Amino acid sequence: MSEEHSQAQAAATDGYHFLIHRLHSLTGLIPIGVFLMMHLFTNASVLAPGPAGMEYQKSVERIHALGPLLVPVEIVGIFLPLLFHSIIGFMIIYTGKSNTQHYRYGGNIRYSFQRWTGVIAFFFIMYHVWQLHWVGQPFRGGSFRLYNESGGPAAAVTTAEAIKAAWWVAPVYAVGILASVYHLSNGIWTSLITWGITIRPRSQQMAGYVCAGFGVILSLIGLGALRGFKTFEVGSGAVQTAESLQEATHH
Ligand code: HEM
Ligand code: HEM
Repeated sequence: MSEEHSQAQAAATDGYHFLIHRLHSLTGLIPIGVFLMMHLFTNASVLAPGPAGMEYQKSVERIHALGPLLVPVEIVGIFLPLLFHSIIGFMIIYTGKSNTQHYRYGGNIRYSFQRWTGVIAFFFIMYHVWQLHWVGQPFRGGSFRLYNESGGPAAAVTTAEAIKAAWWVAPVYAVGILASVYHLSNGIWTSLITWGITIRPRSQQMAGYVCAGFGVILSLIGLGALRGFKTFEVGSGAVQTAESLQEATHH
C-alpha cells in the first residue's frame, strides 16, 4: 500500500470518527436533551393548582393527541436517538477514549461523572420505560393509563401508583432524575466545547456557571414532580381509579 493511500485511509477514518462523535453530541442535545426538559416540565404539572392531577392529565392528552403518529414520533424522535447515543456512549466508555480536550482547565472528575451518570441513566430509563410505557406490557409492566376502564382520567393516578408501588421506587427515581439532569447539564457544557462555541478558559468558566444553574433548576423541577406523585392521594379530587369508582357505585 502506498504511503499516500494509507494516509488517505487514515484521514477517512478520522473523518468518520469525527462525524460519529458530532452525531453523538447532537443526539444528546436534540432530541434527547430537549425531550428530558419537556418531560420533566410535563411531569411537574402534577403540582399545578386546581383539581388533583387534571393539569397533568391535560398535558399528557396533548401529547397523545398525536394519535397514530405518536408511535412513529416516539420511535424516530426518542427511542432510536437514545439507542444510538447509548451504543456510542458505551463504546466511548469501553475504549477508554478520554476527551481531555474538554477538561484541560477542569477536573477530570466531572468527566468520570459524565460517564457514570450516562450508565445510570441507561439502566434507569430501561426500568422506567418497562414500568410505565406500554412497550413493557408483555413483560408485566407498562402500567401507565391515560384513561381508566370507565373512561375517566387516569394519568396521574397510574403514574402515582407506580411510584408508590414499593418504598424503594421513589429513591430510584430520585437517582435517575439527578443522574439524567447532571448528564444533560454537564453535557451541554462539554458540547459547547465540542462545537467550538466556548474556546477560551474565561468563556468556559462563564458557561460552567450557566450550566450549573440550569442543572439546579431542572433538578428541582424533576424532584418536585417526583414529590408530587409520591404524595398524590390516589382517589382524590377529579381523578379516581377504576376500583374506587366501582366501590363508589356499589355503596
Ligand atoms: C418525576 C419523574 C418522572 C415521571 C413521573 C415520569 C413519567 C413517565 C410516564 C408516565 C411515561 C409514559 C408515558 C406514556 O406512555 O405516554 C414516561 C415515559 C418515558 N420517560 Fe419518564 N418520567 C419521569 C422521569 C424520567 C427521566 C428522568 C427520564 C430520563 C431520560 C425519563 C425518560 C422517559 C422515556 C424515554 C419515556 C418513553 C418515551 C415516552 O413515553 O415519551 N423519564 N415517563
Ligand atoms: C438522559 C438521557 C441523555 C441525555 C440528555 C444525554 C446527553 C448528552 C450530552 C448533551 C452529551 C455531551 C456531548 C458533547 O460533549 O459534545 C453527552 C455525552 C455523553 N453521553 Fe449522554 N445523554 C443521555 C444518555 C446517555 C446514556 C444512556 C449513555 C450510555 C452510556 C450516555 C453516554 C454518554 C457519554 C459516554 C458521553 C461523553 C462523550 C464524550 O466523550 O464526549 N448518555 N450526553
